[in-house]
Amino acid sequence: MKNIAVLVSGGGTNLQALIDAQARGEIVNGRLSIVISSAPEVYALERAKKAGIPTCVLPRKNYPSSQGMTVALVEKLKELAIDVVVMAGFMTIVTKDLFEVYNNAVINIHPALIPSFAGPGCYGLHVHEKALEYGVKVSGATVHFVTEECDAGPIILQKAVDVLPNDTPETLQRRIMEQCEWKLLPQAVSLFCQDRLRVEGRTVQILP
Ligand code: GAR
Repeated sequence: MKNIAVLVSGGGTNLQALIDAQARGEIVNGRLSIVISSAPEVYALERAKKAGIPTCVLPRKNYPSSQGMTVALVEKLKELAIDVVVMAGFMTIVTKDLFEVYNNAVINIHPALIPSFAGPGCYGLHVHEKALEYGVKVSGATVHFVTEECDAGPIILQKAVDVLPNDTPETLQRRIMEQCEWKLLPQAVSLFCQDRLRVEGRTVQILP
């Protein structure tokens, strides 16, 4: 059984999707062991508590640098024997100290079809604002392994939805969450926990 840590910074609907998937037995060979937040008093922490999952807060402002915060995070992950780290709406920059220990073992959900609308400054609602400004006809979500370069690690799963004529950033965000993110993230985590993801260069093979 692999120990999963979920990193959050906000509302935690993706965390909720993981909690619900676990309750349905859909996270095969994995257990949500801890939820770590970069900020106190976010609703994601309430979701974890309701589900009986231990929580921990590592406020970025308590550390002099991103590196200081990352080192504290890695210590915590090691202490809990965490096997896989899931960024579910985690909005804090981490440094290579994390990937040195968790190589191809940090998974992120991004609310666009990477490499579109990705990289520094592309997070949360901004992503959907940019997609609408650009006028794309489809958008979606990507689950990928996290590497040092922002939003550029090997892609595990992607799913697209149509952009509709009257979409606002909020309606597009909601459709992408419901139809893509909340499905893809638990699926990818379950595949990882079953050792069914093999990274070959930039490509992730999904083993049967
Ligand atoms: C989600 O849409 C997630 O994909 C996005 O933030 C939202 C968090 O919502 N993440 C990023 O933009 C990371 N670059 P949640 O807290 O309800 O899961």
